[in-house]
Amino acid sequence: MGKIKCAVVGVGNCFAGLVQGIEYYKQNPNQKITGIMHDNMSGYTIHDIDFVAAFDVDSKKVGKALNEAIYAEPNKVKWIDSVSSMEDVIVKQSPRLDGVGSYVQKVVDPVPDRPVEELKKEIIEELKAKKIEVIVSYLPVGSDMATKFWAQVCLDTKIAFVNCMPSFIGSDPQWAEKFKEKNVPIVSDDIKGQVGATIVHRTLAKLCDMRGTKIDKTYQINVGGNTDFLTMKEQERLHSKKISKTESVQSQLSQRLPDDQIYVGPSDFIPFLGNTKLMFMRIEGRMWANIPYNMEVRLEVDDKANSAGIVVDAIRACKIALDRKMGGPLIAVSAYLMKHPPKQMSDDEARAEFEKFIQGKSS
Ligand SMILES: NC(=O)c1ccc[n+]([C@@H]2O[C@H](COP(=O)([O-])OP(=O)(O)OC[C@H]3O[C@@H](n4cnc5c(N)ncnc54)[C@H](O)[C@@H]3O)[C@@H](O)[C@H]2O)c1
Repeated sequence: MGKIKCAVVGVGNCFAGLVQGIEYYKQNPNQKITGIMHDNMSGYTIHDIDFVAAFDVDSKKVGKALNEAIYAEPNKVKWIDSVSSMEDVIVKQSPRLDGVGSYVQKVVDPVPDRPVEELKKEIIEELKAKKIEVIVSYLPVGSDMATKFWAQVCLDTKIAFVNCMPSFIGSDPQWAEKFKEKNVPIVSDDIKGQVGATIVHRTLAKLCDMRGTKIDKTYQINVGGNTDFLTMKEQERLHSKKISKTESVQSQLSQRLPDDQIYVGPSDFIPFLGNTKLMFMRIEGRMWANIPYNMEVRLEVDDKANSAGIVVDAIRACKIALDRKMGGPLIAVSAYLMKHPPKQMSDDEARAEFEKFIQGKSS
């Protein structure tokens, strides 16, 4: 099997964690790889993922070799001193559009804007020259215009799309139709962590629901200290992120909670936390004879370690779809890997359907 030629949009902390993790397993071949479906998925391992093109807007990254750009400020992931690949991949300019939020302007120094059409022409040339098969978007929350730009690039070039962030593409019926029409695979939207706030919250909410209790109200708040959390201080950029996280929990309940009885969202930026993310979750409900109960969970995770394995599987699923000449939203794959997929399923069902997809028994 050949390598999977990938491009990344947004050389931030998530991408740094993804490639430093791959390097970690390269240097420690006897370590069990955690957080992926299979070491070998239809012939593809994590070492078949090859990032040969990259796009960003930050002058500390654009024009730099990709193996250096992943360590540039404000990135904070430094699990491995150096990465033994990507030294000949130069980060190219992406159109900024709505990519850089107002708080983040203090730490990201964008290169001067250039006409979008001029950049698009260069981008397509680069993607074709590098024979890219999958584009992974790690754009900041709230980059709706930039996400649409890159989704359109995927359609124009017939490159598969993994949309790790919460601007809705695969879960938007009109965009989903465009990917179907062009037969281009897409896994989206908004990565679900390995053991992240969303999966813990939806699993416990489902448990309370399945055991027949009546959930009255629930909240989940998250704090962290990386650029992602700094971006999310800007409430205006959070609209789709809140929908994505809230619906992920609501979808697991037999009866939806009233909108004012559920709060799910990032809540603050605490600089010294770095990539540590803290999640506080509470469920209040009633059981037999209307007797009340409540539960509280505090989860502490490295936010970036949490998402990388998920993206590895999304990339490999796209490559499998390309090999099989399948296009459009990958329904089961997205339901298992993403918070806001085109179709929500329980995590058990989604995993079983994803397994069938790998075996070629479903889409
Ligand atoms: N567990 C997780 O980490 C997790 C889970 C779900 C979703 N996500 C989402 O993944 C995305 C990436 O997260 P991150 O922590 O790497 O963010 P980050 O802020 O560290 O990185 C974003 C990168 O995008 C670049 N950028 C900004 N505008 C751009 C543009 N127009 N074109 C190209 N690049 C641009 C920035 O310069 C930066 O390098 C975020 O939207 C985040 O919410 C992350």
